[in-house]
Amino acid sequence: MFKNYRKSKLLFLILLNLIFVATGSTQTDAVEPQRITLTWEGDPATTQSVVWRTDAMVENPCAEIALLAPHLNIAGKNANTVPASTETITIEAGPTVYYHTARFQNLSPAQYYLYRVGDGKIWSEWNTFRTADKENLPFQFLYLGDVQNDILSKWSVLIRQAFSRAPMARFYLYAGDLVNRGQDDDNWREFFAALGFIPRMIPTVPVPGNHDTSRKLLGIRGSRLVDPLYRAHFALPKNGPDDKEEQESAFFMDYQGMRLIAVNTNSNDNPAQLQWLEKVLKESRANWNIVCHHHPLFSVGNDRNDSELRKNLMPIYQQYQVDIVLQGHDHRYGRTNKIVNEQTVSDSARAPIYIVSVSGPKAYRHNPHFAHLLHVEAGETQCYQIINVTPEELRYEAWSLDNQLIDAFALRKTVNGTVLVNLK
Ligand SMILES: [Fe+2]
Repeated sequence: MFKNYRKSKLLFLILLNLIFVATGSTQTDAVEPQRITLTWEGDPATTQSVVWRTDAMVENPCAEIALLAPHLNIAGKNANTVPASTETITIEAGPTVYYHTARFQNLSPAQYYLYRVGDGKIWSEWNTFRTADKENLPFQFLYLGDVQNDILSKWSVLIRQAFSRAPMARFYLYAGDLVNRGQDDDNWREFFAALGFIPRMIPTVPVPGNHDTSRKLLGIRGSRLVDPLYRAHFALPKNGPDDKEEQESAFFMDYQGMRLIAVNTNSNDNPAQLQWLEKVLKESRANWNIVCHHHPLFSVGNDRNDSELRKNLMPIYQQYQVDIVLQGHDHRYGRTNKIVNEQTVSDSARAPIYIVSVSGPKAYRHNPHFAHLLHVEAGETQCYQIINVTPEELRYEAWSLDNQLIDAFALRKTVNGTVLVNLK
């Protein structure tokens, strides 16, 4: 009886396999769009890029886009086709895979769009995105520290809490170490599995950390370059330093009155990057200037103390009006008041606030070096941050995994600059 059962089970499996081969299901899986990710390369009010991956080469990679309508069938009927470009990546000790980028242009500001990606026959589901307003209207975005470890098993919980609390966030800003090994495809598989549909509807703004770099590719100054697999997942602005090898690892974007500048601190001594950073800040007419990079100027974890980084970046942040500096790397939470030359200054001074946060489960111990500068410090606490921006006020909230508001402050515009109001 048992033998017969095994025999019929085997026959059933063979039959199932034959059906799959006959219907071409394996082929379909290979060209099915995965890891669909919205990013910006240009103006968030009028452009949107989308990157996706297939395991097999596709003949005609493309996207369809339409304005969102009351019924999907109506919207879908009016869709325009946009061809995509393809990049081939061979995964370390693994197969060759294909990354496609479609670039939507000449969009209308403040509109919801519907899009899907595929090859003209096999499509993803329909997804939506919203373009930025032309005016400096209020908006919110999310800032996240290192993801890095136990991405699917543990970080999932944090990111889904974050999504639930701020479903209308316009984008997610990552301060580096999105994964533990930038070249490890399984890390990226976990990252996208944890996020689910989120990056398909809320654009990602990634800033590279040390774990996102390649072990093999070194830049001209000997610093590690961002891994090609990290790069493949995101189409980013090409407005960074005039330095081809660092392209898309440092960039800036303007979003409704806020200038957000991503600095690649894996090569913080790059003179081209420092010159570029100064220029981008000098030319800014934004209400708020926010800088994001991985390595912190005032370390809050372990025994770290990066004086080289402070020497390079602090004078620039102090000379030009940088409001907040968003960082990662230390696997701990710490937020200063306004700081000039390693000292707390008055809440109405013209000076930046420095923040370190962590979203993943890895935790570092207290660092005594700069503890006296911290207004709020938290260890063994996974957090996400919601930042609300209006022309008059920037309001910041840090939430822990268990839904506690662990930090909050407002920066309010005054005639001379801003005043910091601690709400925690
Ligand atoms: Fe790091």
